[in-house]
Amino acid sequence: MVEKMAAKKDRRGWFIMVGAVRISAALFIASGAFAATDLELERAGNDPDNIKSLQSGARNFMNYCAGCHSAKYVRFNTLARDLELSEDQLVNNLMFNAEKTFETIQATMPLDDAARWFGQPPPDMSLMARARGTDYVYNFLMSFYIDPESPTGVDNRVLPGTSMPHVLWELQGYQNAIFHEDENGNPEVVGLEPASKGTMTEDEFREFVVDTTNFLEYISEPIRSTRRVLGVWVLMFLIVFWIIASMLKKQIWKDVT
Ligand code: HEC
Repeated sequence: MVEKMAAKKDRRGWFIMVGAVRISAALFIASGAFAATDLELERAGNDPDNIKSLQSGARNFMNYCAGCHSAKYVRFNTLARDLELSEDQLVNNLMFNAEKTFETIQATMPLDDAARWFGQPPPDMSLMARARGTDYVYNFLMSFYIDPESPTGVDNRVLPGTSMPHVLWELQGYQNAIFHEDENGNPEVVGLEPASKGTMTEDEFREFVVDTTNFLEYISEPIRSTRRVLGVWVLMFLIVFWIIASMLKKQIWKDVT
């Protein structure tokens, strides 16, 4: 009888394990299926705990992106708190197009005009890093190249046919695509090389893009740091609670056995 029960318990454990493996496999496949590009992406390597990098990213975003892109779930005063900025720093360095610190980040350009000019409305950036992944955003920003046939004069290796112009051209300079014929004789971009110099060195520009990507990751989950601190407290509570519970159990059962 005891043996039978043990066997049953064993089998149940086995089922749970197989189930767990199946669920994780399904999740893994699903995450792959929704990948935004087939390209092998370079790692962004950003660190959302690096406040300095987030501060630079915020400045980059407000100077180079917020003309077209909103981040409508992000309030300026939340930014100031999380990025350790004083109200003066906030107002003077980030709030170019807002009056009150409780306002959210709006694009300077009206969405209708932007949609007409670019053919596509520039998407809101609040959740972009979560939707596409930070590696994607990083690679997208690094991968504009000259294409005389495009209305913006550039195309993008990560998002071919994009209507976003190469807004960072002054910093990065322009790039040429290196083409290769695929098996059907169609040209395929296999790499990029500098065509002209920008005001930044390659490393400086890379850092600029990493910081910007980092900021986009932070705004896509501003509660992240709070959640992690909270997680530690919850774990500590559980440990203390477990100690008390096991002492209590000993106390209660001591006369029974
Ligand atoms: C001049 C306007 C303009 C500026 C400035 C601009 N963008 Fe865009 N961006 C666009 C438009 C238009 C699209 C839509 C492109 C498309 O879907 O083809 C876009 C799309 C994107 C996307 C989504 C790509 C995708 O896969 O759908 C990301 C990410 C992005 N922009 C990041 C940025 C960042 C970061 C900056 C600042 C460094 C920036 N953009 C500055 C116009 C702009």
